[in-house]
Amino acid sequence: MQRSLKILLVFAAVAGAAIAGYCPGAEAQSAASKPGDAMRTLNAAPMDIADGKRLAETDCAGCHNANGISTTQGIPHIAGQRPAYLYLTLQEYQSDIRGSSAMSNAVKFLSDDALVKVAAYFASLDPAPVPTGATAPAKPDPVEAGKGVSAACAGCHGNTGVSQIPGIPSLVGLDPKYLVDAMKTYKDGQRKNDTMKAMLASVNETAMNEVALFYALQKPARAKTPAAGDPAAGKAASGNCGGCHGEDGVSGSPATPSLAGQDAQYVAAALLAYKDGSRVNDTMKGLAASLDDKGMKNLAAYFAAQEPKAPNVRKPLTTAEWVERCNRCHGVNGNSTNPRFPMLASQRVEYLQKALLDYRAQTRKSTEMHAMAGGLSEDDIDNLAAFYAHEKARAVLFVPLPAK
Ligand code: HEC
Ligand code: HEC
Ligand code: HEC
Ligand code: HEC
Repeated sequence: MQRSLKILLVFAAVAGAAIAGYCPGAEAQSAASKPGDAMRTLNAAPMDIADGKRLAETDCAGCHNANGISTTQGIPHIAGQRPAYLYLTLQEYQSDIRGSSAMSNAVKFLSDDALVKVAAYFASLDPAPVPTGATAPAKPDPVEAGKGVSAACAGCHGNTGVSQIPGIPSLVGLDPKYLVDAMKTYKDGQRKNDTMKAMLASVNETAMNEVALFYALQKPARAKTPAAGDPAAGKAASGNCGGCHGEDGVSGSPATPSLAGQDAQYVAAALLAYKDGSRVNDTMKGLAASLDDKGMKNLAAYFAAQEPKAPNVRKPLTTAEWVERCNRCHGVNGNSTNPRFPMLASQRVEYLQKALLDYRAQTRKSTEMHAMAGGLSEDDIDNLAAFYAHEKARAVLFVPLPAK
């Protein structure tokens, strides 16, 4: 029991530095959550911890086990969790800020002192070991996955989506939403092209999103194909087009494809297809109706000569890049050094997943976590939960006692 006391006192000594040094959100958090109260958990005496243990055995062990290491789906480990975080969380259950009827009932009638003691007790325990057995397979990086899908397209569309074959469109410089919509219309037969229909037969929606993202992130370049028309005449005739396709053929809207740098033969063929109705689009049909073969080729030559630009898409963060951000608050590999911020290391995977989904949906309150979780995809959440669940958790004691 003497050991527990030392553990918590050492924690108190580093807590100030940890808050000031590592975590930008700490000040905002402390103002809202009565820091004086939460820090009482750091000063718990052995007697308090012994009281906390008795309480845990009667009130908490049925679900969390007396050692704080859960053996039940949906119930988190709480052994070795950071003391101030435990205490603040118990307060949140008590005042129904964090909804869970199981937990609200468990703490409803406990005094503030009892919350401090039971929090200090669970904080003083050794955390759960890293789970043995297989790790869930990591969800692939979407851009890498898209690159994999694009291998089947490269023979026609070029390695990075820059066409080298007259009549085949470049796929760079196009908004991923447009690309996905185009693929779907080939698949469902609304846009008729047997080659593309066959090519996409085995490409599901996830793969379409991935391959579209891959092309959107490639360096735009003009198609390496010849143009038959007269670009100057095309420019003169292009006044009608800029309102939708952008002044220089760089569109600002995902619904309208960019034309800058597009293969000229493809553009001319598309205009003809709109005109004769084999590609169905009322807007474009009206615009193409008055164009003859020469006019189409001229417009195509003009747009083909324009400089394509990358669509407004950012490369999503990899799991490693996310982890770097999360660790700024949650400590190295989820071993928080801030008593207010929960340790994530070796927490149950399904609990971590649920917590992140709840933050993303904002059904669990936390300004810091809403900001972080807003940008996470389902795959990011699965990857992060699997990562932290398999990190070694360090007990609250993580610095040597200063020499007396
Ligand atoms: C009837 C089962 C049950 C009992 C009894 C119970 N808990 Fe829980 N506890 C849960 C469940 C389920 C959750 C997850 C709820 C959620 O997602 O908010 C939880 C969550 C928690 C959390 C949040 C952990 C985190 O990482 O945010 C803490 C802390 C906690 N319990 C402490 C206690 C303490 C202390 C007691 C005894 C006073 C106790 N629990 C009694 C079921 C129980
Ligand atoms: C055998 C050659 C070939 C292969 C392989 C191929 N495509 Fe195509 N693709 C074409 C042709 C030809 C068109 C133009 C069809 C039309 O006129 O509608 C096209 C059009 C497209 C378009 C529409 C572009 C736009 O500007 O509207 C998209 C998107 C596309 N392909 C994606 C893909 C993807 C993704 C793959 C790989 C899974 C792929 N293609 C494989 C030949 C091919
Ligand atoms: C009112 C808005 C609007 C105007 C004006 C307009 N377009 Fe379009 N254009 C679109 C939309 C929307 C699409 C996508 C239609 C589809 O999904 O088939 C499109 C598609 C195209 C395509 C097919 C591109 C591809 O990648 O498959 C070409 C080529 C094209 N337009 C050329 C022109 C030219 C040339 C002009 C001027 C004469 C013009 N457009 C004027 C809205 C417009
Ligand atoms: C700016 C600081 C900050 C950053 C960055 C941050 N978190 Fe948090 N995180 C917190 C705080 C504060 C809490 C406690 C909120 C509460 O009381 O519900 C928390 C809680 C959590 C929880 C709930 C733990 C539990 O035991 O219930 C998980 C899971 C989590 N964060 C994961 C992450 C992940 C994954 C990232 C990176 C994508 C991340 N956090 C980034 C501050 C941060």
